Amino acid sequence: MKITVIGAGYVGLVTAACLADTGNEVMCVEKVSSKLETLKKGESPIYEPGLTEVLKKNIASGNIRFTDSIEDGAKFAEALFLCVGTPQSDSGKADLSQVEEAARHIAEVAEGYKLIIEKSTVPVNTHRRVKMTLKRYANPNVVFDVASNPEFLREGSALYDFTNPDRIVAGVESERAKAIFEELYKPFTEKGFPLLITTPAAAELIKHASNSFLALKISYINMVADLCEKVGADIELVAEGMGHDKRIGRAFLNAGLGYGGSCFPKDIKAFINMADENGVDFSLLQEADYINASRRTKYLAKIEDLLWIIKDKKICIWGLAFKPNTDDIREAPAIDIVRELTEQGAELRLCDPKAEENFRRLFPENGQIKYYDDMYKAAEGADALLLITEWKEFVEADIKKLKSIMTLPLVIDGRNAFKPEKMKELGVEYYSIGR
Ligand SMILES: NC(=O)c1ccc[n+]([C@@H]2O[C@H](COP(=O)([O-])OP(=O)(O)OC[C@H]3O[C@@H](n4cnc5c(N)ncnc54)[C@H](O)[C@@H]3O)[C@@H](O)[C@H]2O)c1
Repeated sequence: MKITVIGAGYVGLVTAACLADTGNEVMCVEKVSSKLETLKKGESPIYEPGLTEVLKKNIASGNIRFTDSIEDGAKFAEALFLCVGTPQSDSGKADLSQVEEAARHIAEVAEGYKLIIEKSTVPVNTHRRVKMTLKRYANPNVVFDVASNPEFLREGSALYDFTNPDRIVAGVESERAKAIFEELYKPFTEKGFPLLITTPAAAELIKHASNSFLALKISYINMVADLCEKVGADIELVAEGMGHDKRIGRAFLNAGLGYGGSCFPKDIKAFINMADENGVDFSLLQEADYINASRRTKYLAKIEDLLWIIKDKKICIWGLAFKPNTDDIREAPAIDIVRELTEQGAELRLCDPKAEENFRRLFPENGQIKYYDDMYKAAEGADALLLITEWKEFVEADIKKLKSIMTLPLVIDGRNAFKPEKMKELGVEYYSIGR
Protein backbone atom coordinates (compact mmCIF):
# COMPACT_ATOMS: atom_id res chain seq x y z
CA MET A 1 0.00 0.00 0.00
CA LYS A 2 1.09 3.59 -0.54
CA ILE A 3 1.20 5.63 2.67
CA THR A 4 2.07 9.17 3.61
CA VAL A 5 3.28 10.02 7.10
CA ILE A 6 3.28 13.69 8.10
CA GLY A 7 5.79 14.56 10.82
CA ALA A 8 9.05 12.66 11.28
CA GLY A 9 9.26 12.80 15.06
CA TYR A 10 9.34 9.94 17.57
CA VAL A 11 5.96 8.60 16.40
CA GLY A 12 6.01 9.52 12.70
CA LEU A 13 9.45 8.16 12.01
CA VAL A 14 8.79 4.88 13.78
CA THR A 15 5.42 4.53 12.01
CA ALA A 16 7.02 5.28 8.65
CA ALA A 17 9.93 2.89 9.24
CA CYS A 18 7.79 0.00 10.52
CA LEU A 19 5.14 0.32 7.81
CA ALA A 20 7.86 0.47 5.13
CA ASP A 21 9.38 -2.62 6.70
CA THR A 22 6.12 -4.53 6.29
CA GLY A 23 6.27 -3.88 2.53
CA ASN A 24 4.43 -0.59 2.08
CA GLU A 25 5.68 2.34 0.02
CA VAL A 26 6.01 5.24 2.44
CA MET A 27 6.49 8.94 1.86
CA CYS A 28 7.42 10.82 5.02
CA VAL A 29 6.87 14.58 5.14
CA GLU A 30 8.93 16.67 7.57
CA LYS A 31 9.00 20.46 7.63
CA VAL A 32 12.13 21.04 9.72
CA SER A 33 14.95 21.24 7.18
CA SER A 34 17.74 20.09 9.54
CA LYS A 35 15.78 16.89 10.34
CA LEU A 36 15.08 16.34 6.66
CA GLU A 37 18.76 16.69 5.72
CA THR A 38 19.72 14.12 8.35
CA LEU A 39 17.01 11.72 7.12
CA LYS A 40 18.04 12.10 3.52
CA LYS A 41 21.56 11.01 4.53
CA GLY A 42 19.99 7.82 5.89
CA GLU A 43 20.47 8.83 9.50
CA SER A 44 17.93 9.30 12.28
CA PRO A 45 17.56 12.74 13.90
CA ILE A 46 16.41 11.04 17.13
CA TYR A 47 17.86 8.19 19.17
CA GLU A 48 15.61 5.14 19.24
CA PRO A 49 17.14 1.65 19.50
CA GLY A 50 17.14 -0.14 16.12
CA LEU A 51 15.59 2.74 14.19
CA THR A 52 18.64 3.70 12.10
CA GLU A 53 19.04 0.11 10.86
CA VAL A 54 15.37 -0.19 9.76
CA LEU A 55 15.52 3.23 8.10
CA LYS A 56 18.72 2.42 6.20
CA LYS A 57 17.31 -0.91 5.01
CA ASN A 58 14.09 0.64 3.73
CA ILE A 59 15.76 3.66 2.15
CA ALA A 60 18.01 1.24 0.26
CA SER A 61 15.04 -0.84 -0.92
CA GLY A 62 13.19 2.32 -1.99
CA ASN A 63 10.29 1.63 0.42
CA ILE A 64 10.71 4.93 2.21
CA ARG A 65 11.53 8.44 1.02
CA PHE A 66 11.51 11.86 2.64
CA THR A 67 10.22 15.25 1.52
CA ASP A 68 9.21 18.63 2.87
CA SER A 69 6.28 18.87 0.46
CA ILE A 70 2.81 18.13 1.88
CA GLU A 71 1.57 18.48 -1.68
CA ASP A 72 3.74 15.56 -2.82
CA GLY A 73 2.65 13.61 0.26
CA ALA A 74 -1.04 14.31 -0.34
CA LYS A 75 -0.82 13.23 -3.97
CA PHE A 76 1.29 10.15 -3.25
CA ALA A 77 -1.12 8.10 -1.12
CA GLU A 78 -4.76 7.57 -0.21
CA ALA A 79 -3.93 6.95 3.45
CA LEU A 80 -2.25 9.85 5.24
CA PHE A 81 -1.08 9.61 8.85
CA LEU A 82 -0.96 12.83 10.88
CA CYS A 83 1.95 12.37 13.31
CA VAL A 84 2.54 16.02 14.17
CA GLY A 85 3.00 17.40 17.66
CA THR A 86 0.06 18.17 19.96
CA PRO A 87 1.87 20.00 22.76
CA GLN A 88 0.31 21.58 25.81
CA SER A 89 -0.87 25.16 25.45
CA ASP A 90 -0.59 27.71 28.27
CA SER A 91 -4.15 26.92 29.38
CA GLY A 92 -3.35 23.21 29.76
CA LYS A 93 -5.42 22.32 26.68
CA ALA A 94 -3.86 20.44 23.79
CA ASP A 95 -2.51 22.85 21.16
CA LEU A 96 -3.93 21.44 17.93
CA SER A 97 -2.53 24.07 15.58
CA GLN A 98 -0.12 21.59 13.91
CA VAL A 99 -3.03 19.21 13.26
CA GLU A 100 -5.15 21.99 11.77
CA GLU A 101 -2.28 23.29 9.63
CA ALA A 102 -1.51 19.85 8.21
CA ALA A 103 -5.22 19.13 7.54
CA ARG A 104 -5.63 22.48 5.78
CA HIS A 105 -2.59 21.93 3.57
CA ILE A 106 -3.78 18.46 2.62
CA ALA A 107 -7.25 19.82 1.79
CA GLU A 108 -5.82 22.51 -0.48
CA VAL A 109 -3.96 20.04 -2.68
CA ALA A 110 -5.83 16.72 -2.37
CA GLU A 111 -7.65 15.02 -5.23
CA GLY A 112 -9.82 11.86 -5.30
CA TYR A 113 -10.28 9.83 -2.08
CA LYS A 114 -8.19 10.47 1.03
CA LEU A 115 -8.23 8.76 4.42
CA ILE A 116 -6.82 11.19 6.99
CA ILE A 117 -5.61 9.27 10.01
CA GLU A 118 -5.01 10.95 13.36
CA LYS A 119 -2.08 9.16 14.94
CA SER A 120 -1.18 12.13 17.10
CA THR A 121 -2.82 12.11 20.54
CA VAL A 122 -5.82 14.43 20.36
CA PRO A 123 -8.83 15.25 22.55
CA VAL A 124 -12.08 13.44 21.84
CA ASN A 125 -13.99 14.72 18.81
CA THR A 126 -10.96 16.33 17.20
CA HIS A 127 -11.87 14.19 14.17
CA ARG A 128 -14.96 16.38 13.73
CA ARG A 129 -12.79 19.49 13.59
CA VAL A 130 -10.41 17.84 11.15
CA LYS A 131 -13.35 16.86 8.94
CA MET A 132 -14.73 20.39 9.10
CA THR A 133 -11.34 21.81 8.08
CA LEU A 134 -11.01 19.39 5.19
CA LYS A 135 -14.50 20.26 3.92
CA ARG A 136 -13.89 23.99 4.18
CA TYR A 137 -10.61 24.09 2.32
CA ALA A 138 -10.97 21.27 -0.20
CA ASN A 139 -12.31 21.05 -3.68
CA PRO A 140 -15.90 19.70 -3.28
CA ASN A 141 -15.12 16.67 -5.47
CA VAL A 142 -12.59 15.28 -2.99
CA VAL A 143 -13.91 12.50 -0.75
CA PHE A 144 -12.46 12.42 2.76
CA ASP A 145 -12.65 9.92 5.56
CA VAL A 146 -11.19 10.82 8.93
CA ALA A 147 -10.09 8.06 11.28
CA SER A 148 -8.34 7.84 14.63
CA ASN A 149 -5.52 5.33 15.00
CA PRO A 150 -3.80 6.33 18.26
CA GLU A 151 -0.26 5.22 18.96
CA PHE A 152 0.74 3.43 22.15
CA LEU A 153 4.49 2.97 21.61
CA ARG A 154 6.96 3.80 24.35
CA GLU A 155 10.09 5.75 23.53
CA GLY A 156 13.10 3.52 24.12
CA SER A 157 11.28 0.41 22.85
CA ALA A 158 9.25 2.06 20.10
CA LEU A 159 10.04 -0.37 17.28
CA TYR A 160 9.25 -3.39 19.41
CA ASP A 161 6.03 -1.79 20.65
CA PHE A 162 4.89 -0.81 17.16
CA THR A 163 5.48 -4.31 15.80
CA ASN A 164 4.21 -6.16 18.89
CA PRO A 165 1.22 -4.05 19.94
CA ASP A 166 -1.05 -5.02 22.85
CA ARG A 167 -3.80 -3.74 20.56
CA ILE A 168 -4.22 -1.66 17.43
CA VAL A 169 -7.14 0.72 17.69
CA ALA A 170 -8.80 2.11 14.57
CA GLY A 171 -11.77 4.43 14.94
CA VAL A 172 -13.52 4.64 11.58
CA GLU A 173 -16.73 5.92 10.03
CA SER A 174 -16.83 3.98 6.76
CA GLU A 175 -16.32 0.47 5.41
CA ARG A 176 -13.72 1.87 3.03
CA ALA A 177 -11.60 3.22 5.89
CA LYS A 178 -12.04 -0.03 7.84
CA ALA A 179 -10.82 -2.04 4.84
CA ILE A 180 -7.68 0.11 4.57
CA PHE A 181 -6.79 -0.54 8.23
CA GLU A 182 -7.45 -4.27 7.88
CA GLU A 183 -5.14 -4.44 4.88
CA LEU A 184 -2.44 -2.21 6.35
CA TYR A 185 -2.26 -4.02 9.67
CA LYS A 186 -2.63 -7.52 8.21
CA PRO A 187 1.04 -8.41 8.88
CA PHE A 188 0.30 -7.74 12.58
CA THR A 189 -3.18 -9.26 12.88
CA GLU A 190 -1.91 -12.41 11.13
CA LYS A 191 0.49 -12.81 14.05
CA GLY A 192 -2.41 -12.56 16.49
CA PHE A 193 -2.18 -8.90 17.53
CA PRO A 194 -5.73 -7.60 17.94
CA LEU A 195 -7.17 -4.86 15.74
CA LEU A 196 -10.08 -3.14 17.49
CA ILE A 197 -12.42 -1.33 15.16
CA THR A 198 -14.22 1.45 17.02
CA THR A 199 -15.73 4.85 16.36
CA PRO A 200 -13.30 7.80 16.03
CA ALA A 201 -14.51 9.30 19.32
CA ALA A 202 -13.93 6.05 21.22
CA ALA A 203 -10.46 5.66 19.68
CA GLU A 204 -9.50 9.21 20.66
CA LEU A 205 -10.73 8.55 24.20
CA ILE A 206 -8.99 5.18 24.48
CA LYS A 207 -5.62 6.89 24.06
CA HIS A 208 -6.17 9.72 26.53
CA ALA A 209 -7.88 7.46 29.07
CA SER A 210 -5.06 4.88 28.85
CA ASN A 211 -2.26 7.42 29.37
CA SER A 212 -4.11 9.10 32.22
CA PHE A 213 -4.71 5.74 33.89
CA LEU A 214 -1.01 4.85 33.71
CA ALA A 215 -0.08 8.26 35.12
CA LEU A 216 -2.57 7.63 37.93
CA LYS A 217 -0.94 4.28 38.69
CA ILE A 218 2.49 5.93 38.98
CA SER A 219 1.19 8.61 41.33
CA TYR A 220 -0.62 5.99 43.39
CA ILE A 221 2.51 3.93 44.02
CA ASN A 222 4.45 7.10 44.82
CA MET A 223 1.98 7.94 47.58
CA VAL A 224 2.29 4.40 48.92
CA ALA A 225 6.09 4.98 48.85
CA ASP A 226 5.66 8.10 51.00
CA LEU A 227 3.72 6.03 53.49
CA CYS A 228 6.41 3.30 53.42
CA GLU A 229 9.06 5.88 54.34
CA LYS A 230 7.00 6.97 57.34
CA VAL A 231 6.19 3.51 58.65
CA GLY A 232 9.43 1.71 57.82
CA ALA A 233 8.20 -0.62 55.06
CA ASP A 234 9.91 -1.26 51.71
CA ILE A 235 7.94 -0.03 48.67
CA GLU A 236 9.65 -2.57 46.40
CA LEU A 237 8.22 -5.44 48.46
CA VAL A 238 4.82 -3.77 48.59
CA ALA A 239 4.78 -3.20 44.82
CA GLU A 240 5.81 -6.77 44.18
CA GLY A 241 3.06 -8.07 46.43
CA MET A 242 0.49 -5.86 44.76
CA GLY A 243 1.75 -6.63 41.27
CA HIS A 244 1.17 -10.37 41.61
CA ASP A 245 -2.54 -9.61 41.64
CA LYS A 246 -3.57 -10.04 37.99
CA ARG A 247 -6.19 -7.34 38.41
CA ILE A 248 -3.43 -4.87 39.31
CA GLY A 249 -0.25 -5.99 37.51
CA ARG A 250 3.36 -5.03 38.35
CA ALA A 251 3.91 -2.61 35.44
CA PHE A 252 3.92 1.10 36.29
CA LEU A 253 4.18 0.39 40.01
CA ASN A 254 7.70 1.85 40.19
CA ALA A 255 8.18 4.41 42.91
CA GLY A 256 10.57 7.21 42.07
CA LEU A 257 10.74 10.63 40.51
CA GLY A 258 7.42 10.20 38.71
CA TYR A 259 6.51 10.53 35.08
CA GLY A 260 7.98 12.95 32.58
CA GLY A 261 8.38 12.96 28.83
CA SER A 262 6.37 14.41 26.01
CA CYS A 263 3.17 12.44 26.66
CA PHE A 264 1.93 11.78 30.21
CA PRO A 265 2.32 15.33 31.59
CA LYS A 266 0.53 16.99 28.67
CA ASP A 267 -1.98 14.20 28.05
CA ILE A 268 -3.25 14.09 31.62
CA LYS A 269 -3.69 17.90 31.59
CA ALA A 270 -5.46 17.80 28.22
CA PHE A 271 -7.75 15.02 29.49
CA ILE A 272 -8.64 16.97 32.66
CA ASN A 273 -9.32 20.04 30.53
CA MET A 274 -11.44 18.15 28.04
CA ALA A 275 -13.48 16.57 30.87
CA ASP A 276 -13.94 20.01 32.41
CA GLU A 277 -15.14 21.48 29.11
CA ASN A 278 -17.74 18.73 29.02
CA GLY A 279 -18.90 19.38 32.58
CA VAL A 280 -17.14 16.35 34.12
CA ASP A 281 -15.08 17.00 37.25
CA PHE A 282 -12.06 14.72 36.92
CA SER A 283 -10.30 16.00 40.05
CA LEU A 284 -8.97 12.47 40.59
CA LEU A 285 -6.53 13.13 37.74
CA GLN A 286 -5.75 16.62 38.97
CA GLU A 287 -4.54 15.08 42.21
CA ALA A 288 -2.42 12.52 40.31
CA ASP A 289 -0.75 15.33 38.39
CA TYR A 290 -0.17 17.35 41.54
CA ILE A 291 1.39 14.31 43.25
CA ASN A 292 3.68 13.84 40.28
CA ALA A 293 4.95 17.42 40.40
CA SER A 294 5.61 17.08 44.13
CA ARG A 295 8.00 14.13 43.50
CA ARG A 296 10.63 16.52 42.22
CA THR A 297 10.30 19.01 45.08
CA LYS A 298 10.40 16.18 47.63
CA TYR A 299 13.54 14.75 46.04
CA LEU A 300 15.17 18.19 46.09
CA ALA A 301 14.19 18.58 49.73
CA LYS A 302 15.87 15.22 50.45
CA ILE A 303 19.07 16.42 48.73
CA GLU A 304 19.05 19.63 50.75
CA ASP A 305 18.41 17.74 53.94
CA LEU A 306 21.33 15.41 53.29
CA LEU A 307 23.84 17.96 51.97
CA TRP A 308 22.67 20.86 54.16
CA ILE A 309 24.40 23.63 52.16
CA ILE A 310 24.17 23.12 48.39
CA LYS A 311 26.43 26.04 47.40
CA ASP A 312 29.82 24.86 46.06
CA LYS A 313 28.96 21.17 46.56
CA LYS A 314 30.14 18.95 43.73
CA ILE A 315 27.12 16.92 42.65
CA CYS A 316 27.26 14.24 39.99
CA ILE A 317 24.07 13.48 38.09
CA TRP A 318 23.66 10.19 36.24
CA GLY A 319 20.80 10.42 33.75
CA LEU A 320 19.26 13.41 31.98
CA ALA A 321 16.75 11.80 29.58
CA PHE A 322 13.20 11.46 30.89
CA LYS A 323 13.66 7.70 30.81
CA PRO A 324 16.33 5.21 29.70
CA ASN A 325 17.03 4.36 26.04
CA THR A 326 15.96 7.70 24.63
CA ASP A 327 17.57 11.08 23.98
CA ASP A 328 14.25 12.81 24.75
CA ILE A 329 14.43 15.32 27.61
CA ARG A 330 10.95 16.83 27.30
CA GLU A 331 9.56 17.31 30.86
CA ALA A 332 12.49 15.30 32.25
CA PRO A 333 12.88 15.50 36.05
CA ALA A 334 16.58 16.28 35.46
CA ILE A 335 15.60 19.70 34.08
CA ASP A 336 13.96 20.86 37.32
CA ILE A 337 16.67 19.29 39.45
CA VAL A 338 19.55 20.85 37.50
CA ARG A 339 17.81 24.23 37.43
CA GLU A 340 17.23 24.27 41.19
CA LEU A 341 20.68 23.00 42.14
CA THR A 342 22.47 25.51 39.89
CA GLU A 343 20.35 28.30 41.36
CA GLN A 344 21.55 27.22 44.78
CA GLY A 345 25.17 27.36 43.62
CA ALA A 346 26.08 23.68 43.21
CA GLU A 347 28.83 22.54 40.87
CA LEU A 348 27.18 19.95 38.62
CA ARG A 349 28.84 17.10 36.75
CA LEU A 350 26.36 15.62 34.27
CA CYS A 351 26.40 12.35 32.38
CA ASP A 352 23.86 10.69 30.05
CA PRO A 353 24.56 8.13 27.30
CA LYS A 354 22.31 9.80 24.67
CA ALA A 355 20.60 12.94 25.93
CA GLU A 356 23.65 15.19 26.44
CA GLU A 357 23.27 17.05 23.15
CA ASN A 358 19.62 17.93 23.82
CA PHE A 359 20.38 18.86 27.42
CA ARG A 360 23.28 21.13 26.42
CA ARG A 361 20.81 23.25 24.44
CA LEU A 362 18.98 24.04 27.70
CA PHE A 363 22.01 24.07 29.99
CA PRO A 364 25.23 24.93 28.16
CA GLU A 365 28.52 24.12 29.86
CA ASN A 366 29.73 26.92 32.15
CA GLY A 367 31.57 27.41 35.44
CA GLN A 368 28.84 25.46 37.25
CA ILE A 369 27.90 22.77 34.73
CA LYS A 370 30.21 20.25 33.10
CA TYR A 371 29.34 17.25 30.90
CA TYR A 372 31.18 13.92 30.97
CA ASP A 373 31.12 10.96 28.59
CA ASP A 374 32.63 8.73 31.27
CA MET A 375 30.22 8.09 34.17
CA TYR A 376 33.07 7.49 36.64
CA LYS A 377 34.98 10.65 35.63
CA ALA A 378 31.73 12.53 36.31
CA ALA A 379 31.62 11.08 39.84
CA GLU A 380 35.28 11.79 40.65
CA GLY A 381 35.58 14.07 43.67
CA ALA A 382 31.78 14.41 44.02
CA ASP A 383 30.09 15.08 47.36
CA ALA A 384 26.95 13.26 46.18
CA LEU A 385 25.68 11.23 43.28
CA LEU A 386 22.09 11.55 42.07
CA LEU A 387 20.66 8.71 39.98
CA ILE A 388 17.90 10.35 37.93
CA THR A 389 17.50 8.03 34.91
CA GLU A 390 17.98 4.28 35.27
CA TRP A 391 20.13 3.57 32.19
CA LYS A 392 21.47 0.02 32.27
CA GLU A 393 25.11 1.15 32.60
CA PHE A 394 24.24 3.16 35.71
CA VAL A 395 22.20 0.39 37.31
CA GLU A 396 25.10 -2.02 36.70
CA ALA A 397 27.75 0.43 37.97
CA ASP A 398 30.83 -0.80 39.81
CA ILE A 399 29.90 0.56 43.25
CA LYS A 400 33.29 -0.28 44.80
CA LYS A 401 34.97 1.86 42.16
CA LEU A 402 32.37 4.59 42.61
CA LYS A 403 33.00 4.68 46.35
CA SER A 404 36.76 4.92 45.87
CA ILE A 405 36.56 7.98 43.58
CA MET A 406 33.90 10.09 45.30
CA THR A 407 34.87 12.58 48.01
CA LEU A 408 31.79 11.48 49.94
CA PRO A 409 30.18 8.16 49.02
CA LEU A 410 26.66 9.56 49.23
CA VAL A 411 24.15 8.22 46.69
CA ILE A 412 20.62 9.62 46.42
CA ASP A 413 18.77 7.28 44.11
CA GLY A 414 15.65 8.72 42.45
CA ARG A 415 14.73 5.44 40.74
CA ASN A 416 15.34 2.71 43.33
CA ALA A 417 17.92 1.27 40.97
CA PHE A 418 20.33 -0.09 43.59
CA LYS A 419 19.95 -2.61 46.40
CA PRO A 420 20.11 -0.94 49.83
CA GLU A 421 21.75 -4.01 51.46
CA LYS A 422 24.55 -4.05 48.88
CA MET A 423 25.17 -0.32 49.28
CA LYS A 424 25.35 -0.74 53.05
CA GLU A 425 27.73 -3.68 52.74
CA LEU A 426 30.03 -1.56 50.53
CA GLY A 427 29.94 1.37 52.94
CA VAL A 428 27.95 3.74 50.75
CA GLU A 429 25.58 6.19 52.42
CA TYR A 430 22.49 5.40 50.37
CA TYR A 431 19.02 6.92 50.14
CA SER A 432 16.22 5.95 47.80
CA ILE A 433 12.43 6.31 47.54
CA GLY A 434 10.03 4.59 49.92
CA ARG A 435 12.58 2.20 51.39
N1 LIG B 1 6.61 10.36 21.72
C1 LIG B 1 5.86 9.36 22.14
O1 LIG B 1 6.31 8.48 22.87
C2 LIG B 1 4.42 9.26 21.72
C3 LIG B 1 3.73 8.05 21.89
C4 LIG B 1 2.40 7.99 21.49
C5 LIG B 1 1.76 9.10 20.95
N2 LIG B 1 2.46 10.27 20.82
C6 LIG B 1 1.78 11.41 20.22
O2 LIG B 1 2.18 11.50 18.85
C7 LIG B 1 2.26 12.87 18.44
C8 LIG B 1 3.67 13.17 17.93
O3 LIG B 1 4.57 12.99 19.00
P1 LIG B 1 6.15 12.99 18.77
O4 LIG B 1 6.78 12.69 20.07
O5 LIG B 1 6.47 12.15 17.59
O6 LIG B 1 6.38 14.54 18.41
P2 LIG B 1 7.65 15.19 17.73
O7 LIG B 1 7.63 16.62 18.13
O8 LIG B 1 8.86 14.37 18.01
O9 LIG B 1 7.34 15.08 16.16
C9 LIG B 1 6.44 15.84 15.45
C10 LIG B 1 7.06 16.16 14.09
O10 LIG B 1 6.08 16.70 13.21
C11 LIG B 1 6.71 17.69 12.42
N3 LIG B 1 5.66 18.53 11.81
C12 LIG B 1 4.76 19.31 12.45
N4 LIG B 1 3.94 19.90 11.55
C13 LIG B 1 4.32 19.44 10.33
C14 LIG B 1 3.85 19.68 9.00
N5 LIG B 1 2.82 20.50 8.76
N6 LIG B 1 4.49 19.07 7.99
C15 LIG B 1 5.53 18.26 8.22
N7 LIG B 1 6.02 17.99 9.45
C16 LIG B 1 5.41 18.58 10.50
C17 LIG B 1 7.61 18.40 13.40
O11 LIG B 1 8.62 19.16 12.76
C18 LIG B 1 8.18 17.20 14.19
O12 LIG B 1 9.35 16.71 13.59
C19 LIG B 1 1.84 13.69 19.65
O13 LIG B 1 0.47 13.94 19.58
C20 LIG B 1 2.13 12.76 20.81
O14 LIG B 1 1.34 13.03 21.93
C21 LIG B 1 3.77 10.37 21.17
